[in-house]
Amino acid sequence: MEGKPEDDGGDLTRRGFLGGTGAALVVAGVPTLGGVGVEEEGVSTQLLEAVPQTAIRVTVNGTEHRVEVEDRWTLNEFLRDHIGLTGSKIGCNRGECGACTVLLDGEPVYSCSTLAVWADGREIVTVEGLERGGDVSPLQQAFMDHNAAQCGFCTPGQLMTATALLDRIPQPTTGEVREAMVGNLCRCSNYNAIVEAVLAAAATSGSGGAQ
Ligand code: FES
Ligand code: FES
Repeated sequence: MEGKPEDDGGDLTRRGFLGGTGAALVVAGVPTLGGVGVEEEGVSTQLLEAVPQTAIRVTVNGTEHRVEVEDRWTLNEFLRDHIGLTGSKIGCNRGECGACTVLLDGEPVYSCSTLAVWADGREIVTVEGLERGGDVSPLQQAFMDHNAAQCGFCTPGQLMTATALLDRIPQPTTGEVREAMVGNLCRCSNYNAIVEAVLAAAATSGSGGAQ
């Protein structure tokens, strides 16, 4: 029928075009390593087995883990995908937003931009580690009391950075809070409430409560 690309009699029918595109996509989708196409059989197994791995020992929220990690895993991948701690979020995945912040030996780090192997022998605290005996930390309570979470996506990272601040400076000034939190972006622009919550937590507890 006239108008149906399949039947237009030309060399390039729609069905033929889509078939060709599909083939092209399959080829484009084949992973490569070092410029070598990975085949279904044989070579792929060899290359996958060649991914370097390292045995690490880390303490996460007080629990020791001895695990074999691929050297390419980020700390966030390790935490979320391999030990099930999904509290730290991925926002930008390139060290800009702070949603993935966790504490590494008490210091806030972007877990999207930190390799899991770099954490070997070190102590990690995630947002799940702020809870004590089923109770939220004073900082978490202050976030709730001051509506510091709107959509909440940035909140785990905000909490970890603020926790590190309060552990270091129990009674920070407003300026010190703002300065400490500068690496944690909030797309809801809820910055005033976040600063209020941190100051309120400082007034009630004077500690972030990471430990
Ligand atoms: S997800 Fe890590 S800094 Fe944005
Ligand atoms: S509360 Fe929505 S991104 Fe911060």
